[in-house]
Amino acid sequence: MKKTLVAPSILSTDFAFLGNTLTIINKSAADWLHVDIMDGLFVPNLSFGMPILKAIQQYTSKPVELHLMIVQPERYLETFARFQIQQITVHAEACLHLHREVQQIKELGCKAGVALNPHTPIDCLEYIIQELDMVCLMSVNPGFGGQRFILQTLDKIRQVKALIKTKKCAALIEVDGGINKTNGGEVVRAGADAVVVGSSIFDSGNPQEAIRHLKEL
Ligand code: DX5
Ligand code: ZN
Repeated sequence: MKKTLVAPSILSTDFAFLGNTLTIINKSAADWLHVDIMDGLFVPNLSFGMPILKAIQQYTSKPVELHLMIVQPERYLETFARFQIQQITVHAEACLHLHREVQQIKELGCKAGVALNPHTPIDCLEYIIQELDMVCLMSVNPGFGGQRFILQTLDKIRQVKALIKTKKCAALIEVDGGINKTNGGEVVRAGADAVVVGSSIFDSGNPQEAIRHLKEL
């Protein structure tokens, strides 16, 4: 059976021990590392920028997926791509010219993802989904770790799955926020290929075990 792709988010970990956290993830069954970049404008929180990203890139052995929660991400795509990032995910709501931004990400040699906030209808994917490696459905309002999963996301996952089938394209569906071992099964059954998980991994006392468990969802 196909295993669920698991992307640990380091957002709610203790940054004083970032090296230790990355070592734990390196030795785990995680498929890639999910790195949340926030600008205090697109979301009401700031996370970190280039110096921390550089440190992460030096210590991680996992492919890195950048989740850009920033306005006008086109300003930084080239700089981000220099950090050997595997995938860059931009928010549809943050891009005036989403198609151009997606092309730019691919020209920079990265995979391209588009994230949608919980309230954003999936219609905006109709003419872009063929170009995408991944659709990231936010199952919390972005900006903070440790929030509760928004149930309507399950229906949205099914809708995106149907759109992928209709358009005969290969985009993966990733779901980000509030996922744990209790609700994770439903997320995968609805059609998610990948889950982004922060607090429920790192609050568990045994992150590697938690990641292994999530892969079996
Ligand atoms: C929220 C971030 C998520 C978050 C996930 O804005 O995009 O990646 O860190 O963390 P949990 O699993 O705690 O919701
Ligand atoms: Zn994220």
